[in-house]
Amino acid sequence: MKIDVAQWLGPELDDALTSFDMDSYTCCRSGDFDEEINWKVLMDAFLDGYHIASTHAGTVAPYFYNNVQAWRQMGRHARVVSARKSIDKVREQDPSEVDINRHITIAHFIMPNMSILRQPDHLEVLTFVPAPGTAEGTRMQMRILIREPAVTDEQKARWDKNWDILMAVLRDEDLVVNRALQHAVSNTDLPPLLFGRNEIANQHFHQWLDRALDDPRHWG
Ligand SMILES: [Fe+2]
Repeated sequence: MKIDVAQWLGPELDDALTSFDMDSYTCCRSGDFDEEINWKVLMDAFLDGYHIASTHAGTVAPYFYNNVQAWRQMGRHARVVSARKSIDKVREQDPSEVDINRHITIAHFIMPNMSILRQPDHLEVLTFVPAPGTAEGTRMQMRILIREPAVTDEQKARWDKNWDILMAVLRDEDLVVNRALQHAVSNTDLPPLLFGRNEIANQHFHQWLDRALDDPRHWG
């Protein structure tokens, strides 16, 4: 089977990802994690911006302006930009003269199962695929991509530390909540769940997922 990646992404997202020069990056750390959690529960969790202030209160949240993000739909895909508090340092400066990339995180959500986060100095790529040997479990494939390969002991130690922090947030914070979410949505007595008007990313995901399930040939 042949997949036309550019056509799947659409011109806007294709251009955005091309501008990242991803082909010049190398994968410095990767890990697979199998969880008894449906992949849609995990996608919902990673699309959601509101959990950061509570679930990541002591780790990620202090560095970001929480509960406010710039959202842009790109056909079936989407982009969410979050501002770091460090953006205050350049708030008064002429936007044309400031490198804003050091102060924002850009998340691209690639339907149906992939996220690419551009952090100031690296990329995080997260993919959900079926976990082998399970009926409903998900394998989370996490990768950190960096521009310059880590060669020296100091560089390797730096990325070891970054990876350990990322894994701790995932293991001790996101996955704890997501296991509880999976338990909750497995309850067959549960009434329909409604998203809030401001939960745009999650609404987008489910609308496009429904479209795909209605007719996989025409959901784009
Ligand atoms: Fe999270």
